[in-house]
Amino acid sequence: MASPAPQRDLKQLLSRGIRSGTVRLRRRMEDLNPQELRRSRADWPEVLERVPALRTVEHEIQRTRSELGAAHRDYCARIGHPVHAASLELVGLLRCLLQDRLEKGGPLRVVDLGSGFTSFALRSAAAGQPVEVHSVDDSPEWLEKTRAYLDAQGVNSENLHTWTNFGAAARKGTFDLVLHDMGFMDFRFETLDLAVDLAGPGGLVVLDDMHKREYRDQALQRLTERGIPAWSLKRATRDNLLRYAYLSLR
Ligand SMILES: C[S@@+](CC[C@H](N)C(=O)[O-])C[C@H]1O[C@@H](n2cnc3c(N)ncnc32)[C@H](O)[C@@H]1O
Repeated sequence: MASPAPQRDLKQLLSRGIRSGTVRLRRRMEDLNPQELRRSRADWPEVLERVPALRTVEHEIQRTRSELGAAHRDYCARIGHPVHAASLELVGLLRCLLQDRLEKGGPLRVVDLGSGFTSFALRSAAAGQPVEVHSVDDSPEWLEKTRAYLDAQGVNSENLHTWTNFGAAARKGTFDLVLHDMGFMDFRFETLDLAVDLAGPGGLVVLDDMHKREYRDQALQRLTERGIPAWSLKRATRDNLLRYAYLSLR
C-alpha cells in the first residue's frame, strides 16, 4: 500500500535535502583539492604575463557587481537559476577581457556558447562598440528564453543560433573571445575541440565549470594532447557556489 501523502512529502523532502547536502559536501571537498590550489597559485602569474589587463579584474568584478548585480538577481529569480547562470565573477572577467581586446583595436567577434545571462552581459558591454556577439545554445528552448530576455531588456538579440545551425566547423578561427559554457558536461566535453577551434590566432577561450573534476581532467588532458595551453582562473572567478573557469589561448 502506498504511504499517505504527508509521509511521502516528508520522505521526498528528506531525500532532496540529503542529495543537495551531498552535492555541497562534494563541492567543498573538491574546492580543497591541493593540486588545484597549487595550480591556481602557480598559474595566476602566467595568466597575468599573457593578459596583463587581468591585473584589474578584481576591480572589474566589483564594477560588474554594482552595475549588473540587480539584473543578475532578477535573472536568477525569474529566468534561469543561480546554479546555471554565470556568476558575476565570470561576467566581470569576460568584461575585462573584452575591454582589453577592444583597447588593442576592434572590430571584435565574440561567441558565447551556452546562452543566458552571459548573452545579456556581453551584449550590453558590446553596445556602441565595434563588437559582434554571437550566442549559441544546444537547447532551442533556452535559446528562445534568452531571446525573450534580451528583447525585454532592450538589448540586441541578433546572432542567436542553435548549436546545430551555428556551423561551428565552418567558423573555425573566426572569433577573438570564446566562452564555452554550453549544455550538460558530457556534451560540453564532446564540443570542446570545436569550441576551442572557434578562436583565431591570439584568441582567448574561457572554459567555465572547471571546478567539476571529471570534466576538468578530461578537458585538460584533451588540450594537452593538442598542445593547447590552459591556466586556472580559480583565483579570479571562484564564486559562492565554488565554481571557477580556466583560460586558454590560441
Ligand atoms: C551553464 S548553462 C549556460 C549559462 C549561461 N552562460 C548563463 O550565463 O546563463 C548551460 C546550459 O544549460 C541550459 N540552461 C540555462 N539555464 C538553465 C536553467 N535555469 N535550467 C536548466 N538549464 C538551463 C542552457 O541550455 C545552457 O546551454
